Amino acid sequence: MSKTTKEAILRGVILAGGLGTRLYPLTKVTSKHLLPVGNEPMVFHCVRQLTEAGITDILIVTNPGYVGDFVNALGSGKDFGCEFTYRVQEEAKGIANALALAEGFAAGGRIAVLLGDNIFESSIQQAVSDFHAQQTGARVLLKKVDDPERYGVATLNANRIVEIEEKPEQPKSNYAVVGIYFYDSIVFDVIRTIEPSARGEYEITAVNNVYLNRGQLEYSFLQGEWVDAGTFDSLAEAHQILLNRKESH
Ligand code: DAU
Repeated sequence: MSKTTKEAILRGVILAGGLGTRLYPLTKVTSKHLLPVGNEPMVFHCVRQLTEAGITDILIVTNPGYVGDFVNALGSGKDFGCEFTYRVQEEAKGIANALALAEGFAAGGRIAVLLGDNIFESSIQQAVSDFHAQQTGARVLLKKVDDPERYGVATLNANRIVEIEEKPEQPKSNYAVVGIYFYDSIVFDVIRTIEPSARGEYEITAVNNVYLNRGQLEYSFLQGEWVDAGTFDSLAEAHQILLNRKESH
């Protein structure tokens, strides 16, 4: 395949591993990403975000206990107009560790990565187009929030990101890095260079900071509401956003 063709293809990765401990005992029943949000299991929302943006080759990363539930719920992809590949993350060693499993699937091409518990009110189409227009590097989306200490937080200076800190106790800004990331093919080499954080996880923020230090991290602001549905309160909020989205369609 020629280099240009390879770079034109954008595959999708949905990271749905992890333990979902903050939603226990709901996660005694199944994965957080299969719990109902709006009228559907949470992960359906991520799948539709990708397919509506023209991304139809999709990898789902799950943990070993729930892989059967995912295959039952999603199947081959025929019902969604896409094709699924599944991979199992043996231990919840962090988002970048889960993403490392996508290397073979990416096949040297570019990827759009969605965290399976992130719910977006608006389409991600604009971000996908912006990344297509970008020659190399990575792209993140930022959203102004009231509780930045829950997220990766970006410090901006003269319209550039100068630093991203993961869940800082004293955030330097209100700009959260949301759970959708775009990467070129070097991301897997980057993941191999990072060390686990103090909490023992391979952080996606560490990956983004490598791109930042290489001068290869672009960003835009996310339009519309956004929820990381990892807690009971945010799950309820996500539910409401999706119900409203449905009513307005
Ligand atoms: O929601 C956006 C935030 O997501 C970012 O601002 C943070 O920088 C990023 O670290 C992440 O923070 P969370 O604390 O919300 O990450 P969490 O551990 O909840 O994981 C998010 C998703 O990633 C989860 O739904 C499944 C997937 N995951 C997570 C871990 C730890 C995996 O697939 N494997 C894992 O080992």
